[in-house]
Amino acid sequence: MSHSNTKTDRAQEAEARNIYIVDHRVSPEHQAIRTGHKGGVLWLTGLSGSGKSTVGLGLEQALHQLGYQAYVLDGDNVRAGLNKDLGFSPQDRSENIRRIAEVAALFAQSGTLVVTAFISPYQEDRDIAREIIGEGFHEVYVEASLDVCENRDPKGLYKRARAGEIPEFTGISAPYEAPDNPELIINTGEQDIEASVHSALDHVEEYFTLDQNRLRVVA
Ligand code: ADX
Repeated sequence: MSHSNTKTDRAQEAEARNIYIVDHRVSPEHQAIRTGHKGGVLWLTGLSGSGKSTVGLGLEQALHQLGYQAYVLDGDNVRAGLNKDLGFSPQDRSENIRRIAEVAALFAQSGTLVVTAFISPYQEDRDIAREIIGEGFHEVYVEASLDVCENRDPKGLYKRARAGEIPEFTGISAPYEAPDNPELIINTGEQDIEASVHSALDHVEEYFTLDQNRLRVVA
């Protein structure tokens, strides 16, 4: 599947199809002045049962309470709607990730801190998401061993996958490629949810929060 390397490539490709990209009048800087933080994407990746949704939702809640504009895009929710035409072949998973990356990029442009919670098992697909989203993409490995995830088995899916009832199940009959070089690792096998959310929160404060002095100068 082809994808654009830069905004200009993308604009040129679009124009060849008589599509003309419009520029927003409200810049990312203006969005940031209002919210006090930059938009961006925390791309959570990990096995089913590793805690992506739990950490993501906890982070969304904590950020909301601190006044951030944050929103979780979750695998099961997106697959129930936008991506309900997609299954779990490598090709469909790639398309799943590509669409999410495009949606997350739009949300990020709106100034939102997006937290995505998808297995996203292939490094190549996550690299494409990084390219689509550009600056502000942070890959977060939600790490827990297959043993730990299979013991948790919150949806009973590992049991069914072992019984051969779910084909191409990640970790059992389909691969999971751990990130090569993630911006953050959250080890949910070793720390509890509260500590995991806390480390994500620290990361957000370090990379996305604007300090008040800078805010005043820009404003
Ligand atoms: S991804 O691999 O394409 O990134 P995604 O995160 O959207 O996956 O969806 C994973 C969710 O789909 C799991 O939490 C689980 O509930 C469900 N699911 C159903 N079939 C499978 C499968 N074969 N492999 C993994 N997850 C599956």
